[in-house]
This record gives sequence, structure tokens and C-alpha cells, in this order.
Amino acid sequence: MIELYLDTADITETARFHHCFPLTGITTNPTILANSGVGLKATLTYMSNLLGKDARFFAQVVSKEAESMLNEAKKLNELPYDMVVKVPTTEEGLAAIKLMKQGGIQVLATAIYTAQQGFMAALCGADYLAPYVNRIDAMNGDGVAVVRDLQLLIEKHGLSTKILAASFKNVQQAMDVMKLGIGGITLPVDVAMQMFSHPAIEPAVAQFDKDWADAFGDKLSFES
Ligand code: G3P
Repeated sequence: MIELYLDTADITETARFHHCFPLTGITTNPTILANSGVGLKATLTYMSNLLGKDARFFAQVVSKEAESMLNEAKKLNELPYDMVVKVPTTEEGLAAIKLMKQGGIQVLATAIYTAQQGFMAALCGADYLAPYVNRIDAMNGDGVAVVRDLQLLIEKHGLSTKILAASFKNVQQAMDVMKLGIGGITLPVDVAMQMFSHPAIEPAVAQFDKDWADAFGDKLSFES
């Protein structure tokens, strides 16, 4: 089954979607944590208590050089959770991914804007690739096409890397990439909400309620 994540550090929103979605865990990035005003360790404590011990968490290194990224990744990997270390897919980031994989650390290559960039990360051993679908679209590119190319390359070359598509502004983008058979997706809260939003849903349910009440009052289904 596709792995479904929320791209957030908001504990209230995570609780809401944990209630109704089969969440695998949450993904974060430096901007998300900075905006939340809560550090990584406290966020992970809250999230782990909420989602349980099987939840998977993604946290990004902020170091700049490959060796220091590796040292930071080792610290993240020591946290008592199922951690995946996010690494920006730069020249140093690719070098860091190679080092991290030698050390058996789970890695996601992030900030992917092109198929070639993601493919190199996959060849370096990244467990996950995070192509930024909406950010690519917003630059007059084709985010879904990048994901399609990456998925094709992964399959053609028999790689175990999974695409964990990220950066969405609407459900169309999310649905388009999920149709490609990718391994995972992380949704911001507003797009997660759009998953069960449609103007026809509430009127349909209201009509059922009215018809039922007219016929059977306040009886429950099995009482009728
Ligand atoms: O976590 C990185 C990615 O999800 C970025 O999303 O919405 O900032 O483009 P966004």
C-alpha cells in the first residue's frame, strides 16, 4: 500500500487526520519546524505519543558539508523513533547520501526538481526521493512528468528506491502522481482536507438524513 504522510509539525492537525486517514507518519522540513515554533525533539515526542511506536518520521539535516551532514544524520538516527534523514539533493548532499547508506541510515533525498537529480540520488542509494511537484509546476515545469520519469527510471533499473512525492497545492496534482504507482506521498494539511471535500457530499448526506427522519424518525438503521 502507498505510504501516506502529513507534511506538518502541527499536532492538532495530525491528530485530526490520524483519526480518519491511515497515516504512516509525518514529514517535516526546516521551514515547517521554524514556522511551528517547536523544535524537532518536542515535535517528535508529541507525534510519537499520538501516532504510536510504528510511525515513521522524516527530519532534514541543516549541515552543509557531506561529513557534517553525516554526523548530524547519525544523531537523528539515534533518536528512539523510526527516523528517515532528509538530505537536500545537492552535490554535497549526494556525497552525504553515499556516506549515510554505508552507515545503514535511512535516507530521503529532498528538494528534487529534475528527474536526473532524483535518479542520481537513487543510484547513490537513497531510500526515498521527494520530487517537489507544485514547486516544479509553479516554475512553469511539469511536476507530474518529473515523477513519471523517476518512477519509470526506478522500475527500468530495478532500484528499491521509493518516490515520496511532496509539495502539493491541489488534489489534482496528488491524484496524478498516485496514479503512477509511487511508493508514498506527503500532503500538506490543506490538500489532505481536499481529499474528502466536494460540494455535492454534504447535500447528499443531508438528503439521506431528511428521507430517513421523514420515514423513521429518530430510529437507528437496525431499529427500523
Ligand atoms: O517538505 C518539503 C516539501 O513538502 C515542500 O512543500 O509546500 O513548501 O512546496 P511546499
